Amino acid sequence: MEYTYLDCLALFGVGGAHPGGLQLTKDMLSKEVIDETKSVLDVGCGTGQTSAFLAKQYGCDVTSIDSNTIMLDKAKKRFSSLQLPINTVHGSVEYLPFDDGVFDIILSESVTSFTNVSLTVPEYKRVLKHSGLLLAIEMVIDKKISEDESKPIIDFYGISQLLTESEWINLFKQAGFKHISIDTFGQQFDENNVQNAADFSLSENIDEELIQILEKHEQLTDTYKDILGYRIFRCCV
Ligand SMILES: C[S@@+](CC[C@H](N)C(=O)[O-])C[C@H]1O[C@@H](n2cnc3c(N)ncnc32)[C@H](O)[C@@H]1O
Repeated sequence: MEYTYLDCLALFGVGGAHPGGLQLTKDMLSKEVIDETKSVLDVGCGTGQTSAFLAKQYGCDVTSIDSNTIMLDKAKKRFSSLQLPINTVHGSVEYLPFDDGVFDIILSESVTSFTNVSLTVPEYKRVLKHSGLLLAIEMVIDKKISEDESKPIIDFYGISQLLTESEWINLFKQAGFKHISIDTFGQQFDENNVQNAADFSLSENIDEELIQILEKHEQLTDTYKDILGYRIFRCCV
């Protein structure tokens, strides 16, 4: 069986599967006004580490959506063991199954790049309220590279394109986001703080091939460290 990188994350049940992990999420959210009156959509929620933090920390109304049933089942288990009233939805961010203008905040942590961005970004805008906010952690390339150079990255992650920071900004603007600001990843991971570490919820029978995929991910990240980066895009409607 040929597994994809996302299969691998799902079968290992990696919680906090985005650069910077939960520590970055907490820093990012601490700059926003979030309380129990806010409705927050965590798109591509994975195993639900961020959704659980949002519900516990802020008492806001959280909806979590993912297209991968293994991920979503693990998220549901997390929420029920923590007794958190989080609404879980199986579906794609490319066709969000929600009415227009219903969410105050959308959180997209390392998700959009894996989708058809020309469908997904307008969907984010559509379901946000008029005063809504999108916080998106996205993969960026720091300079344009040749097809030969980008192919191994595109093939491995199963994505259709690699975008520069300004290409992302254009996409957000075209979808109707008005004010876009960018944050880079300044902080270092605090390895003594176990509360912010990635967590794992392993499926049974982990195949050897999955370990090789994780190793390939490490290898690629290292090979392309001068080209591949991440940004937090803060986009207001
Ligand atoms: C790198 S993981 C990040 C998971 C989570 N946001 C986190 O930070 O731990 C990407 C997630 O996006 C989900 N995903 C990918 N394409 C999707 C789509 N079209 N619709 C909904 N979820 C999607 C995957 O199933 C996976 O859970």
